[in-house]
Amino acid sequence: MSVVGVAHDFDAWCDHARRLLRRRVPPDAVAWRDADAGGSLFAPGMEEGGNAPAIRLPATFLERARTVACHRDESRWAVLYRLVWRIGVEGDRGLLDDAADPDVRPFEVMHKQVRFDAHKAKAFVRFRKVQDDADGERYLAWHRPEHRVLPLVGPFFARRFGVMRWTIFTPHQSADWDGRSLTYGPGVDRDPMEARDGMEELWKTYYRNIFNPARIKTGAMLKEMPRRYWSTMPETGIIDELLRDAPDRVKLMMARQQDENPGAEAFLPPAGHRSLPQLRSAAKQCEGCELCDVGTRTVFGEGPRDARLMLVGEQPGNEEDLAGRPFVGPAGRLLDEALHAAGIDRSTVYVTNAVKHFRNEPRGKRRIHMKPTVSQVRACLPWLRSEIEQVRPAIIVALGATAGQALLGRTYRVTQQRGQLIDSEQWGAAVLGTIHPSAILRMPDQPTRDQAFEQFVADLRTASAAAA
Ligand code: URA
Ligand code: SF4
Repeated sequence: MSVVGVAHDFDAWCDHARRLLRRRVPPDAVAWRDADAGGSLFAPGMEEGGNAPAIRLPATFLERARTVACHRDESRWAVLYRLVWRIGVEGDRGLLDDAADPDVRPFEVMHKQVRFDAHKAKAFVRFRKVQDDADGERYLAWHRPEHRVLPLVGPFFARRFGVMRWTIFTPHQSADWDGRSLTYGPGVDRDPMEARDGMEELWKTYYRNIFNPARIKTGAMLKEMPRRYWSTMPETGIIDELLRDAPDRVKLMMARQQDENPGAEAFLPPAGHRSLPQLRSAAKQCEGCELCDVGTRTVFGEGPRDARLMLVGEQPGNEEDLAGRPFVGPAGRLLDEALHAAGIDRSTVYVTNAVKHFRNEPRGKRRIHMKPTVSQVRACLPWLRSEIEQVRPAIIVALGATAGQALLGRTYRVTQQRGQLIDSEQWGAAVLGTIHPSAILRMPDQPTRDQAFEQFVADLRTASAAAA
């Protein structure tokens, strides 16, 4: 997916900020203006030059800053520059932990507001089919967000409606998907297809199918859906019908909109209907955490239901996400080799992950693996727990720290506890923690890798002997 020409974009701002920083221009010597508020995003003193060393900023800050950059308040640029200055130049690495700080507070507030607005855009944007004579079908949507959230939600719609050609218009920006790439352009100040209809029925069907319970509790809906969204919600006519069938998930969904993970619990099938195929099928619909918007699909565990040995990884990687199966990428191939060396037949083992969606961040065409957060691991645990309840393995092997902590608690350390069989009352099994095969792949040289591999195989042998 390629992204072209984002107006008001964070990268453009970074460019300017970098130039200023090379000359160590302090924050109070800069006045930031939005590009379309008259004038350009160009402050006095931005000429080239300067040779101060480049500064480094924590990735977590940059990730949040990118979101804050979508806020409509012009002061965001100044807040961002002050933070960059204080963290990068003055070296205050812990600054973001000080929630009461006069720069950190607006940063956090704006971050929250933009995220919330982006969630709303995901929930409320409605596409309509329009006929395009030269080109066949196109879908258009009109939405009025508070902030410039299109860069944040564009990739989500590209994934969800990848086969359609669509454009989303907002007052500030538009995003266009031609089936292959996402392009951002200027906005329009009113709904460009007013009175052009044609897909109400199709939309209603779609709405029934995706059926997000957060939208069906009338009171909550009125609160969550400001009046200005209403005209773009053709499905209001079927709300009564949906209300009748509403599962009891509304609260959880509301929690999700408030930036908390509702967790997978609400998506489990009812007790008595939790066979592995039933679980696998229900997990496809899971929206227990925000990763449902990030990964392509739920990657559920696989293996015999009477397996004595269960292997638990962290989360699917790129190849697993595409294939829908655990451990089929590079780490999976190394795992296969190690299982073979340990004399274990993979087809007798149940293989799964602590988190069932691929957490990643797009970088150009690639998707970079990101470690799942503690809250995401917690959100996903009901699936792993249900798998363990079904399979009832004698031994569970935790591959890496994420799986180890999911199963043994946050004090678990691979370095200290690997290779030990730890009886767990909670899981009705012994848990053996070991290194993650990806960690072996990342090791710098072959002798180190070989040694780590041997140790990994030894741990698998221990587990397999105990399971026999
Ligand atoms: N890494 C994991 O933890 N799990 C997979 O399925 C693949 C890579
Ligand atoms: Fe659900 Fe787990 Fe996916 Fe989050 S990661 S949406 S909890 S399956």
